[in-house]
Amino acid sequence: MKALENKVAIITGAGSGMGKAMALLFAAEGAKVVVSDINTDRVNEVVKEITEKGLTAKGITTNIAIEHDVRNLFTLAMLTYGSVDVLVNNAGVMDDFTPAAEVTDELWNRVMGVNINGPFYACRLALQQMLKQGKGVIVNISSIGGLQGARAGAAYTASKHALVGLTKNIGYIYGTKGIRCNAIAPGAVNTNIMEGASFNKFGAERINPGLGTNLRMAEPNEIAELALFLASDKASNINGTVVTADGGWTSF
Ligand SMILES: NC(=O)c1ccc[n+]([C@@H]2O[C@H](COP(=O)([O-])OP(=O)(O)OC[C@H]3O[C@@H](n4cnc5c(N)ncnc54)[C@H](O)[C@@H]3O)[C@@H](O)[C@H]2O)c1
Repeated sequence: MKALENKVAIITGAGSGMGKAMALLFAAEGAKVVVSDINTDRVNEVVKEITEKGLTAKGITTNIAIEHDVRNLFTLAMLTYGSVDVLVNNAGVMDDFTPAAEVTDELWNRVMGVNINGPFYACRLALQQMLKQGKGVIVNISSIGGLQGARAGAAYTASKHALVGLTKNIGYIYGTKGIRCNAIAPGAVNTNIMEGASFNKFGAERINPGLGTNLRMAEPNEIAELALFLASDKASNINGTVVTADGGWTSF
C-alpha cells in the first residue's frame, strides 16, 4: 500500500519549489492532492503534470494571507474529495534580510500575512474538519530561521518562530484527538524563493558569516520526502515537534 493511499492532502504554495515537489510525490504515493498557490499558471502546470500521469489532483488559486481565500480552498477540498486528511502549510515569502529598524509596516504585514496568518487560518479550518474525522496530520514548513536568530530578516525570523510555536501548541493540545502537527525546518533549498529579491545591505552583511557555514544546498525533493514521512502513518509517534533538514548547517 502506498504511504498516502486515498488521503486528501492540501498543499499551499504548491506551484513551485518544495510545495511542487510535495504535490508530485504525495500524488505518486496515492494522495488526492489539492494544489493551492497564488500563481494560477503554476497551479495549472502542477495539476496537469499530476493528472497526465493518471494521478489525482485539483487546483485552486489561493492567497493564503486572505482568510476568505483559505475558506474557498477548504470548501473546494471538501466538495471535491469529502475530507482533509493532510494539510501542508508550505507557502512562504522572504523579507530581503531586512533588519528590524528598517522594516516597513507593509513588509511586516506582508511577511506575517503569508508566513503565519495564512498557516493559522488553514490550521483552524483543518482542525475543525479533522476533529470531526477523528484524525488528520498537519505539516508546517518553518525554517532554520524559525530556530535561530540571523538566517533572514526580522519579519521572516519572527514569522517562522511563530509558526514553530503554533505547531507545538496544536500538536500538544490536539494530540489526544488523533491529530498530529509537526514542522520542518529546512536549511538552504534550491527553489524560486529568492526570485526578485533585493537584499538589504546591512542585513545581508550581518547574516553573511552564517551563510558561509552552510555545507550544501538541498533539492526540493529532499524536503518533500520528509514531509511525506511526517504526513504518513509511519510517523505515528512524531507530534508537536520540529524536524530540522539542513544538511548539518545548524550543527556548526
Ligand atoms: N528555499 C529555502 O532555502 C527555504 C529554506 C527554509 C524554509 N523555506 C520555506 O519553504 C517554503 C516553500 O518555499 P520555497 O523555497 O519552495 O519557495 P518557492 O518560492 O519556490 O515556492 C513558494 C510558493 O509559494 C507561493 N506563494 C507565495 N505567496 C503566496 C501566498 N500569499 N499565497 C499562496 N501561495 C503563495 C509562490 O507563488 C510559490 O509558488 C516557504 O515557507 C519558505 O519560507 C525555504
